[in-house]
Amino acid sequence: MQPPRRLIDVEIDGAAVRVPEGSTVLDACRTAGKDIPTLCHGDTLTPKNACRVCVVEVEGSRTLAPACSRTAEAGMVVATDTERARHSRKVVLELLASSTDLSTTPRAKEWMADYGADPARFGEEAATVAQPPKVDNDLYVRDYGKCILCYKCVDACGEQWQNSFAISVAGRGFDATISTEFDVALTDSACVYCGNCVEVCPTGALSFKTEFDMRAEGTWDESEQTTTTTICSYCGVGCNLTLHVQDNKIVKVTSPHDNPVTHGNLCIKGRFGYGYV
Ligand code: SF4
Ligand code: SF4
Ligand code: FES
Repeated sequence: MQPPRRLIDVEIDGAAVRVPEGSTVLDACRTAGKDIPTLCHGDTLTPKNACRVCVVEVEGSRTLAPACSRTAEAGMVVATDTERARHSRKVVLELLASSTDLSTTPRAKEWMADYGADPARFGEEAATVAQPPKVDNDLYVRDYGKCILCYKCVDACGEQWQNSFAISVAGRGFDATISTEFDVALTDSACVYCGNCVEVCPTGALSFKTEFDMRAEGTWDESEQTTTTTICSYCGVGCNLTLHVQDNKIVKVTSPHDNPVTHGNLCIKGRFGYGYV
């Protein structure tokens, strides 16, 4: 059991909030009821600071601060909705949307409208990472035309959770992409099909094959899906499974991130072994 943490006072947009010491500015903003956009932030991963869509102004700081990684300090004065912060988020969204496909990124459309982002202003010749989806196994699909290079999948596959190191960043600059070793098919890689990368991907670049196929045929409908959290029956660990069901069929399996043992991670059996149900 963790020892109790001291509480510190922070000011967010003029309102006083109290958060446990060690919290991030994002935690404090959320405590104050502020809706800060995030993409590369993962609630089960160490912050990577890759996207910068979460920036806020911290009094006394020369530069904008990424809320997801900056630690809140006692007496800190934060402004979340200044012109400077909004402009920065707008440009981040424009750059991402002009080069990648954000069509399956939850809330991207809403944020683009909110910040007045106009990716089209870079013109039709804007550089793009568009490429065909990689469909090389029956369990999950890698559609890197939707990848924002947030590194969450790499961290989940590597030292932060799975320790399989099946995927990493290959190439540099605009040619950087997430890849298996030597770009081999997933079936020839070190992948163990835990799907923990799919669990953390914020854009749908990684998705269940079921979801990919249903989207392609136009039958994927989250408004028609129910979720039920249950216990995996394969072994004694007792992982929590959240079953997403549409038309009486399981269409994907996620896992609660607040589980103190598994933190949203599963193995291949819990994640994909539901065919017997
Ligand atoms: S399914 Fe698991 S092992 Fe395979 S790439 Fe994803 S995180 Fe790594
Ligand atoms: S595949 Fe998804 S999780 Fe991995 S870097 Fe791209 S957007 Fe992030
Ligand atoms: S969400 Fe904070 S830097 Fe990406």
